[in-house]
Amino acid sequence: MLGTERLQLYLDPARKPAAAEVDAYRALVRRRGAGEPVAHLTGKKEFYGLEFEVTTDVLVPRPETELLVDRARALGGARLLDVGTGSGCVAIACAVRLPEARVTATDVSQAALEVAQRNAERHGVAERIDFRQGDLFAPVDAMDTSARFDLILSNPPYVATGETVETAGKEPDVALFAGPQGTEILERLLDAAPEHLAPGGTLLMEIGEDQAGFVEGRARASFGSVTIHTDLAGLPRMLEASSPP
Ligand SMILES: C[S@@+](CC[C@H](N)C(=O)[O-])C[C@H]1O[C@@H](n2cnc3c(N)ncnc32)[C@H](O)[C@@H]1O
Repeated sequence: MLGTERLQLYLDPARKPAAAEVDAYRALVRRRGAGEPVAHLTGKKEFYGLEFEVTTDVLVPRPETELLVDRARALGGARLLDVGTGSGCVAIACAVRLPEARVTATDVSQAALEVAQRNAERHGVAERIDFRQGDLFAPVDAMDTSARFDLILSNPPYVATGETVETAGKEPDVALFAGPQGTEILERLLDAAPEHLAPGGTLLMEIGEDQAGFVEGRARASFGSVTIHTDLAGLPRMLEASSPP
């Protein structure tokens, strides 16, 4: 906000902020007090060691979502698909960490895709990420019906409509809420992912901590192997489901 580095504050401790700077800071404190995420005040958020532009059109990247990137790096793959890319954080972190990979990233929100495109340019991976607007896999199907991916990643909306969320009204509803059950988009992803995976390909999908039983049961019907991964807090937060080789 002062347009300076933290170090400068220590190097010049006698500097008094101007009245306009104090007013601007107070305005930020008020917005934070009203529940606005810090990332919306600063316009940025760190994810997987990279800085991302964040606006009110995208979900603020969450630390638990880094699990998707960790696992993608461990599995590797040449063709990746990120469904519901938002700020682009997952697609871009994967493209940065997997330099051979080509990534397709979809989102229903054109406004989010514009943020994601800028983030990809900022991190020098725009040439390896193809951003497409539309519902789940529809943009991929429109491109090429034979497109198959080694890895499909998704952090989809998985909150039930009406459930209390701290950032409701501050982040886009479309990024948070899936429908009356909360599992509606997870189910659609589980149903459609197998036909978009290459043989031996893997779906990595973030889930709510109370949704593991549901998605695991459902995934067993259509995937060869299914694992639930826990986050650093020990909560079940990611499904890994692979197609037979
Ligand atoms: C929970 S946010 C995740 C954003 C980002 N991947 C992340 O992890 O920070 C879900 C994203 O999915 C998008 N989305 C919601 N419904 C969708 C649909 N039917 N098809 C494609 N994208 C959708 C939202 O616009 C939002 O950007």
